Amino acid sequence: MAVVTGGASGIGLGIAEAIVDRGGRVVISDIRQDALPAALDHLNGRAEGARAAGIVADVSNAAEVETLTAFTLETFGRVDLVCNNAGLVSPAAPTWEQDLATWDRMIRVKIMGVIHGVRAFAPHLVAQGSGHILNTASSAGLAPLADRSPYTTTMHAVVGLTETLDVELKRLSSQLGATVLCPGLVDTPLGANSAALGAIAAPAGPPVDMRALRPDILSPRQVAEAAINAVEAGRVHVAPGGDVLERARSRVDELLRDIASVAP
Ligand SMILES: NC(=O)c1ccc[n+]([C@@H]2O[C@H](COP(=O)([O-])OP(=O)(O)OC[C@H]3O[C@@H](n4cnc5c(N)ncnc54)[C@H](O)[C@@H]3O)[C@@H](O)[C@H]2O)c1
Repeated sequence: MAVVTGGASGIGLGIAEAIVDRGGRVVISDIRQDALPAALDHLNGRAEGARAAGIVADVSNAAEVETLTAFTLETFGRVDLVCNNAGLVSPAAPTWEQDLATWDRMIRVKIMGVIHGVRAFAPHLVAQGSGHILNTASSAGLAPLADRSPYTTTMHAVVGLTETLDVELKRLSSQLGATVLCPGLVDTPLGANSAALGAIAAPAGPPVDMRALRPDILSPRQVAEAAINAVEAGRVHVAPGGDVLERARSRVDELLRDIASVAP
């Protein structure tokens, strides 16, 4: 039994689909009410019986995430996997030119959204003695991404939060844990949805065919499969995508070189 925030589209919908295809049940939540019915039809069309339910919830609002928790427990009786996935992208500009409204929005949705999910659901997992929290960050949480500072900052925060959370959960039981998902580029409508939610300007011109531009782009389902495999294996990090390993390696190498150069 799982819950996925930002589950009406993209990676969240891919995770929900993978859960339903494995015979599981899922609650999806999203801030875009109009996107939920099609996502639920898609999920419930894949198996016998209603395996998916949905509710509107803004992850930046703690009370709405508490309502999501109550809805999840009322609908399916328990929760085993909590996917804090909802997110937006920020406009492209150097750090000093990013406006305060962007910083505020990214912190409220991406950092506070994950914190609200952990605060609302973790006590239930701890009480039942088992369960897993899967937080979606990005490859931008493992290495710098120029001109997306509000995005990289909040994604790094989600990596740090999840690593800490995993230690705290595993200290209680080996049946508890947390995983952070840090994919490279994924073929989702993140830009269009972020524009619809007022986070970035609507892109000018016809939609870009990302598959033609970047043949190595991942599908949401590929990302979902990698994430679920990592959860099942109890791994703390999962970072699918062509260049992610190299980008993470070069950051860690540089970090260790810098630290070692002043070590006593
Ligand atoms: N697409 C990529 O290339 C990529 C790569 C790495 C990480 N990510 C991250 O994956 C996550 C999912 O993004 P996606 O690419 O699937 O995009 P998406 O737009 O398809 O899905 C994100 C969903 O989150 C919802 N959402 C936004 N703000 C919300 C809020 N305050 N409360 C509840 N729901 C909200 C949106 O309505 C949307 O349905 C994001 O956190 C994103 O940063 C995406």
